[in-house]
Amino acid sequence: MTLHRRQLLARAAILAGAALTPGAWTSALAQARLPEDPFSLGVASGEPEPDGVVLWTRLAPRPLQPDGGMAPAPVAVRWVVAEDAALSRVAASGETLGVAEAGHSVHVEVAGLRPDRQYWYRFTAGGHASPVGRARTAPAAGADVRSLRLAYGSCQKYEAGFYGAYDHLVADDPDLVLFLGDYIYEQAATAKGVRRHPGPEPTDIAGYRVRYGAYKSDPKLQAAHAAAPWMVIWDDHEVENDYGGDHDRADSDPAWFLARRAAAYQAYYEHMPLRRRSRPVGPQMQLFRSLDWGRLAQLQFLDTRQYRPQRTCAALADGKLIPDCPERTDPARSLLGAAQERWLMDTLAGSEARWNLLAQQYVFNEIRRPTPEGVRYSNDGWSGYAQTRGRILRQWRDARVSNPVALGGDIHCFIAGDLALDGKPVASEFVGGSISSLGAANTELQALAAANPALRFTEGERRGYGLVEITPEGCGVRFRGIDTALQPTSPVRDLARFHVETGRPGMQHA
Ligand SMILES: [Fe+2]
Repeated sequence: MTLHRRQLLARAAILAGAALTPGAWTSALAQARLPEDPFSLGVASGEPEPDGVVLWTRLAPRPLQPDGGMAPAPVAVRWVVAEDAALSRVAASGETLGVAEAGHSVHVEVAGLRPDRQYWYRFTAGGHASPVGRARTAPAAGADVRSLRLAYGSCQKYEAGFYGAYDHLVADDPDLVLFLGDYIYEQAATAKGVRRHPGPEPTDIAGYRVRYGAYKSDPKLQAAHAAAPWMVIWDDHEVENDYGGDHDRADSDPAWFLARRAAAYQAYYEHMPLRRRSRPVGPQMQLFRSLDWGRLAQLQFLDTRQYRPQRTCAALADGKLIPDCPERTDPARSLLGAAQERWLMDTLAGSEARWNLLAQQYVFNEIRRPTPEGVRYSNDGWSGYAQTRGRILRQWRDARVSNPVALGGDIHCFIAGDLALDGKPVASEFVGGSISSLGAANTELQALAAANPALRFTEGERRGYGLVEITPEGCGVRFRGIDTALQPTSPVRDLARFHVETGRPGMQHA
């Protein structure tokens, strides 16, 4: 065995969190060729920085099998990054290993690239080559950047619809794609919808791998990953509907639930183009972070699931809905957990960016739901954690954060509105619909908007995504709606266009 190969295997052991035995080394050597194409899940890039980007793939010739159709041995994977689509002007290359402990997933942190550039990349393994993906680096720190175009989506229930929205997202040619949660849905296969989930509800790593295998086999989703770097955050369905911290809806034994959460987080990491700092340790995984786009924009990404305390006023809840109650405003509680909230406040105070985009899972506005028994609030999102929401609004205002804008998902509807404090707008929010998950009827949303005048635009019957164009002068947002997700392809149109002018809080219809 060459020294080079020994070093690779030693690194693989670190990646896998376990020592590889000499037996494993031998099998890695034995597996020079793979009988089937292992790149069935495509390629992805993510987490762009000025000098590099993460490249991702997972070796899985049979993605609906828990082991992906791979033997347990580690497999050497070569990668190349080039300045052209034909991969002739090579900028970086190397070799890493896919190991069974990480589902034969590969996360390469490429460094040494030039800022604000497009690159193309490809993997090879066992005599097969992956599709070519396109990535890009972020602009240099402090650079005077003229524009950023980003697309953001959420909620892509596989059974509920096809991913035709991604055809248009790719054609819109974004610099960056954000995914704001509900990448998979954990529910068992049903007889409803346009296609079937594979098998029962996952609770262990084998089950979650199969679920990602089904979702990521979709060619349109693969094309969107191959088109631009993604920044991802999760919501609840990557683990289980409405979970928070160490508790699920059924109030299962927290130890059992944390083991499930650990499996779900591990599978999430294995299927996303994340940096190694996000590699899970048991049921913990670091997902909140920020991304700078020169001096033009900073994005802050929140994890509103992992650290939240016990559900707000659970004893009073009818489903998710609660009357106003002390826990909703109790200053000791935080939807983000103390450490993440401190990080967010410090990050906002220290940001020197012209635009500050809060990438998170929900509608940020407080949603009041009138009922015959009085006003009700959901205890699953910001409305159940009014104290945390209020502290962010005050920080935006008091720390003079430059041009804050919130982007959200979760409710499968397009919503736009201003975020006000003491009657004055301090920011605006744009909730970007859903890729395929079904939303609310527009009559229902109109009633909700009537009770919540801050919601200036609502649309629940179309699927789609948001497209944001940021310049030093303004932030333009387009809600891109497809006619239907019940067909594999569908035309797109702008459901609405908005504009926020720099230095002037509040959105306008464009
Ligand atoms: Fe969802």
